[in-house]
Amino acid sequence: MRKKIVAGNWKMNMTFEEGQTLTSEILNMMKDEHSGDAIAVLNPPFPHIFPVKKLIGEAKAVFIGAQNCSDKEAGAFTGEVSTKILASFGVQYVIIGHSERREYFQESNEMLAAKVKLALVNGLTPIFCCGESLEIRTAGTHEATVTTQLTEGLFDLSPADFSKIVIAYEPIWAIGTGKTASSEEAQDMHAALRSHVASKYGKDIADGTSILYGGSCNPKNAQELFAKPDVDGGLIGGASLKSRDFVDIIKSF
Ligand code: PGA
Repeated sequence: MRKKIVAGNWKMNMTFEEGQTLTSEILNMMKDEHSGDAIAVLNPPFPHIFPVKKLIGEAKAVFIGAQNCSDKEAGAFTGEVSTKILASFGVQYVIIGHSERREYFQESNEMLAAKVKLALVNGLTPIFCCGESLEIRTAGTHEATVTTQLTEGLFDLSPADFSKIVIAYEPIWAIGTGKTASSEEAQDMHAALRSHVASKYGKDIADGTSILYGGSCNPKNAQELFAKPDVDGGLIGGASLKSRDFVDIIKSF
């Protein structure tokens, strides 16, 4: 059985106080209301990681992740944060290749492949993002685009390493726009991604890979999206900044 995961991507939001309040609220609601087997991963900006992790403590079903990591191991790379540093602070997950990083920071699949490898070396679970622009969706080449992102970013991995990967499919036209992919569009792409993984690593590994949907996911549409057979959870931006919404999304399974 693959994991059901709802990951919150805070992006560049939340002061220290706001982050502490948000985390405490999420933890309380999870304790009181959550009984399913879905897990939450909080991905705050770097300075929040240690204090948020401390708040999480031994809480069941809540984990800590980072939004990014360096593609370099260590050394003179001012402003960067390595996977080794993240691991030493107890970070368990790391988002790699979010479309905002690909677009605004020119992150190539080659660079992302290096990040994925370093994350795995240091025991972090990569949440590898892929997704197409509206232009590509309109042209009808979305499936080829997204499967190429997977091939170039991940398919150098050994089967043992690949089986540790979480994939997040996020159509760029749905991120922060309020325009969600329909549950059918999400299911079609998730099924295509899973069969692409199967073509390289076999059915067992493909069936064990969690594929999350991201892009304007909210408490209203989560249930329908998560009911689809190949949608194993969500990567949540805007709605992860509101404790009620985020926990309601987790409870949508
Ligand atoms: P959104 O962002 O939920 O605000 O659309 C999702 C993401 O970018 O991960």
